[in-house]
Amino acid sequence: MADYVVEFGKDGRPVEPDGRLDASAFHRNHQAIRAVLQRFLAGKSGDVIEVGSGTGQHAVDFARHLPEITWWPSDLNDRHLASIVAWRAHAQLSNIRLPLRIDLSDPDWCSEMQDGRGPADVLAVFCANVVHIAPWSVAEGLLAGAGRYLRVDGLLFLYGPFKRGGKHTALSNAVFDSSLREGNPEWGVRDIEAVEALAASAGLALVEVIEMPSNNLTLVFGRSHAI
Ligand SMILES: C[S@@+](CC[C@H](N)C(=O)[O-])C[C@H]1O[C@@H](n2cnc3c(N)ncnc32)[C@H](O)[C@@H]1O
Repeated sequence: MADYVVEFGKDGRPVEPDGRLDASAFHRNHQAIRAVLQRFLAGKSGDVIEVGSGTGQHAVDFARHLPEITWWPSDLNDRHLASIVAWRAHAQLSNIRLPLRIDLSDPDWCSEMQDGRGPADVLAVFCANVVHIAPWSVAEGLLAGAGRYLRVDGLLFLYGPFKRGGKHTALSNAVFDSSLREGNPEWGVRDIEAVEALAASAGLALVEVIEMPSNNLTLVFGRSHAI
């Protein structure tokens, strides 16, 4: 059964003295996720916002392999934000910005996106393993913000387990869904169709559904009029 972490650093994983946290899932999924991003983003330049970055390990990995892109990690949790800062300092890469404090339940995301301190005309938004471990309002805010901040040819990447046509794609995802809902009735594995409906209201449409290891998917959205 898939496991999930609400707060890294409290799950028995090692914590570095500088605050760098480690996500066990990162070691299993980062290469497959990076391959998807490389397929869509290689050769492009611009700003990519990662929302719900967690430890910051994905941001460092992406920045290292896609050096033309400026990465803007973000999270809501103070410990995670400190870990992102520490991973950024450790990596010594010039194309990672300091993390933004983005609360996805707010469709505006954060003040920096309004006042020019954040990126404008965003090339892509990346979000891994967030919408099922959060209330539906987080998915609503994520799609609303992506619809607002993505540039004309911008893309939204949404990685995680999803249901298709109201059905789980694997028994392990059904068990995982039950454990999520037991922990919080507002959480749960989302329907692709429900996310698509949110996307449509934000002017976005599903471009591709990519099968990922361990019964996960990456949903790729683009602007409806650009497809
Ligand atoms: C399971 S972790 C995934 C972390 C990372 N994306 C990864 O795949 O390793 C979920 C993340 O979403 C963040 N999160 C939860 N609610 C959020 C919200 N309302 N706005 C932004 N981030 C949120 C958590 O702090 C956590 O870092």
